[in-house]
Amino acid sequence: MPALTDFSARLIAWQRVHGRHGLPWQNTRDPYRIWLSEIMLQQTQVSTVIPYYARFLARFPDVTALAAAPLDDVMALWAGLGYYSRARNLHRCAGVVSSEYGGHFPQTVDELEQLPGIGRSTAAAIASFAFGARATILDGNVKRVLARVFGVDGFPGEKRVENAMWTLAESLLPDAAHKDDVTAYTQGLMDLGATLCVRGKPDCMRCPFAADCVANVTRRQRELPAARPKKTVPTRKTWMLVLKDGDAVLLEKRPPAGVWGGLWSLPEAADENALAAIAHRFGAAEDLKRLAPLTHTFTHFKLDIEPRLGKALGQRSQAADAETVWAPLAGIDAFGLPAPVRKLLDALQGSLV
Ligand code: ADE
Repeated sequence: MPALTDFSARLIAWQRVHGRHGLPWQNTRDPYRIWLSEIMLQQTQVSTVIPYYARFLARFPDVTALAAAPLDDVMALWAGLGYYSRARNLHRCAGVVSSEYGGHFPQTVDELEQLPGIGRSTAAAIASFAFGARATILDGNVKRVLARVFGVDGFPGEKRVENAMWTLAESLLPDAAHKDDVTAYTQGLMDLGATLCVRGKPDCMRCPFAADCVANVTRRQRELPAARPKKTVPTRKTWMLVLKDGDAVLLEKRPPAGVWGGLWSLPEAADENALAAIAHRFGAAEDLKRLAPLTHTFTHFKLDIEPRLGKALGQRSQAADAETVWAPLAGIDAFGLPAPVRKLLDALQGSLV
């Protein structure tokens, strides 16, 4: 798919000149330091991480020291960084590396990925930074870069799109002959996403891919990567009866549990005929009249409402019971009504039918 044939070479050249080189966890191959920084950087920005990283290293200089510490001490030192499951997993991971690997981190992505708190992308970052492995990362920043440069449509949080991005990311790695460059390449992906190809206002003028980037060339920086799709919710349909008797309308009390529990509402049926039967029972003589349909959105579903208008003459006194009332339209505010029912009745009053 990529038309760009020199993606990795260009990224590496750019990283060497314009990338970040002085971060505290760079210029080391110590897997402990790299792992610690990657876990801290998973959901936290660089400037916040820096002092925490320094305090952790001063207190726990290696993985065995961290493993030997009580969890409470680790949690206390983590306090303020957020996402505390990271700290619990950090401590568990230190324990596993100490007891099962003799205090030495494993070197392959597959083994690293088995450790607590280390996902596929973090495993690849550690393998590439610490061991020079030809392993691809794919975090949120990298997804944004790839979606834009290569015009990958679809929400990257969706499995199908994410899988396609992993395949793409793997195809872009520097080839085996340039294995030595994999650190600069991995850092370059992170740096491009963090410094130029940012979410809000990307600095395309300085980007080494400006001329080829699908998002830049087609001016779709705002649309790529695609936003999380709105949840599609199921639709239900109901028929509602607006049965009028003079200036009063028939209301029914909803059952206490469920949608609109305990509110007063219009009588409902699952289809047109069932609604006509209700109308007939309450004294409607003529055919029901169609009113404009409306839609109401709940958290978990959408309700399509088909209102029907009927006229009953002189039925008021008979119909009323505890769960059914003839409510005067002028005093409708005294009843707790669902929003769409209120809207419907307001519109009706306005049109003076
Ligand atoms: N975000 C995740 N890993 C990082 C790293 N090694 N340097 C800078 N930002 C990062």
